[in-house]
Amino acid sequence: MKKYTTIYDLAHIPKTIQEAIQLKENPFAYEDLGTHKTLVMLFFNASLRTRLSTEKAAKNLGMNVMILNINNAWNLEFEEGTIMNLNSSEHVKEAAQVISQYADIIAIRAFPSLEDKEKDSSEWILNSFVKYATVPIVNMESATMHPLQALADAITIEELKTKQKPKVVLSWAPHPKALPQAVANSFVKMMQQLDIDFSITHPKGYELNSKITKNVPIHYKQEEALKDADFVYVKNWSSYESYGKVLHKNPNWMLTEAKLKEAKFMHCLPVRRNVVVEDAVLDSENSIVIQQSLNRVYSAQIVLKKILENI
Ligand code: CP
Repeated sequence: MKKYTTIYDLAHIPKTIQEAIQLKENPFAYEDLGTHKTLVMLFFNASLRTRLSTEKAAKNLGMNVMILNINNAWNLEFEEGTIMNLNSSEHVKEAAQVISQYADIIAIRAFPSLEDKEKDSSEWILNSFVKYATVPIVNMESATMHPLQALADAITIEELKTKQKPKVVLSWAPHPKALPQAVANSFVKMMQQLDIDFSITHPKGYELNSKITKNVPIHYKQEEALKDADFVYVKNWSSYESYGKVLHKNPNWMLTEAKLKEAKFMHCLPVRRNVVVEDAVLDSENSIVIQQSLNRVYSAQIVLKKILENI
């Protein structure tokens, strides 16, 4: 594999999920693969899980890891042909090539502005590194995608499903802040690759990009959508149509025990208790969020392994 910026970089997703589950049983089986190889992780935004799980994954493969909170370095310029007489001290053209000399793989986290839809959709930060870096790029959550999270979610569903074709529902939930659509987008793309009964529920106005949701059924009545669900993935996202806007914070969309019933509760974390989901759900045995976060290690590790095998 030459890069991992979207789930479509995986040649065979169901096979990759099985390989990740095998890796989880024996995480150090390939500890020589990354010897004398370095992963540089660049963070334009904060992280807890992605940062630690990806570092752990790389170290399980014997890699060295260097982490840069890039906002503590020089302000990078991304525009072509710009006169750099304001706040940007270094162009991504140089920065990406320089970092590539120190790295065998570069992983990047760069959230969207949620102000300029066109610019965010172009994935200008991620794609600038894809363009100018000379080593493989891994997406640790970009403006529109979070493919490492989606792979971890798919691994978790595969581990816990009790029927051949489970019903999986992605449900919007309220949140006080405007959040990206990236997790939801990648989850939708991933679920479309699996043999499952998948649907989405959200209030009107929160439709995701229709080029991503395609023909996935969308329901505006949450409780009807959740009926007989095996897995309920809860996530807030800001409006895509009224780009980046919080249209409402209707608390009735918070996930409760009564709505979840026997289903498994999923969330990428971090999650706001009693806003997105009530305590009773998060503290119940039906919550699988901690297992999801563990599987972030093995989603990152299988991705790094496949890239290392191609270097
Ligand atoms: N789920 C996830 O990506 O968590 P972090 O933002 O803490 O990395």
